Amino acid sequence: MTILDGKKVSNDIKDEIAEHVKAMVSKGEKVPHLAAILVGTDGASMTYVNAKVKACERIGFNSTLIDLPDYTTEEELLQKIDQLNTDNDIDGFIVQLPLPKHIDEQKVLMAVNPDKDVDGFHPTNVGKMALDLPTFLPATPYGIMELLERYQIETSGKNVVVLGRSHIVGRPMSILMSQKRKAGDATVTVVHSRSKNLKEITLEADIVVAAIGISEFLTGDMVKEDVVIIDVGITRVPDATKKTGYRLAGDVEFESVSKKASYITPVPGGVGPMTIAMLLKNTLLARKRNLQ
Ligand code: GUN
Repeated sequence: MTILDGKKVSNDIKDEIAEHVKAMVSKGEKVPHLAAILVGTDGASMTYVNAKVKACERIGFNSTLIDLPDYTTEEELLQKIDQLNTDNDIDGFIVQLPLPKHIDEQKVLMAVNPDKDVDGFHPTNVGKMALDLPTFLPATPYGIMELLERYQIETSGKNVVVLGRSHIVGRPMSILMSQKRKAGDATVTVVHSRSKNLKEITLEADIVVAAIGISEFLTGDMVKEDVVIIDVGITRVPDATKKTGYRLAGDVEFESVSKKASYITPVPGGVGPMTIAMLLKNTLLARKRNLQ
């Protein structure tokens, strides 16, 4: 069993981007600038956004964190987005999800200038992705594709089961892995809350991408020997033995599934760090587009 070390691969990618930044600086070019909008005080979102900002600092990007209170109105948020859309110093920006319930997420994502949409969530960019056109790929699926590619995991003709149909992970993952591309050419099945005979389906999988948002959902009896496991889930589970009072669990029961798997991503240290690395890669792409 091999651990798919997302932390190490993401550090390699960040080093590669840092080299690009150095070259840009030596040529007197402007370095990439990423902005992130955070609305409210959700603990997990604050952690992720801070990690994104810190990663920018490490590789030499400029970054701006826009921290808005949870009582921010939809209109105020849309105004902020408009400012970033027209600010020539900002190459790309993200709005961290989830948003407070009184804000229409779809409306917000549609307000982002597609050329600055480094999360790849705007319908224009989702459409381009679905049509095999070059665009910003959403960071988590992009990170998984990169991880599969760098570990040279064969996907062509393989049975891939994606657990979950979210706009951020499950849906784009199913599109990307069925495409004619690196880490693609797979036969993809998407399962969700209404699927029947789930175990029958997962037992046929050569690769499982678990993005269902239920901690330790996939257990050892649901997978076959030598399966490749990509665990996207990250949930805080109460644990009195920890200082913080919780531990981080994936959508996969690591203990039982890792005994059968040929490759498996850990939680934390698997998919999560890859998401950040690919967001930075998209921001570099946004900057380079601006140079043309
Ligand atoms: N919330 C969970 N994942 C993501 C992500 O990739 N981008 C943003 N903006 N919010 C998220």
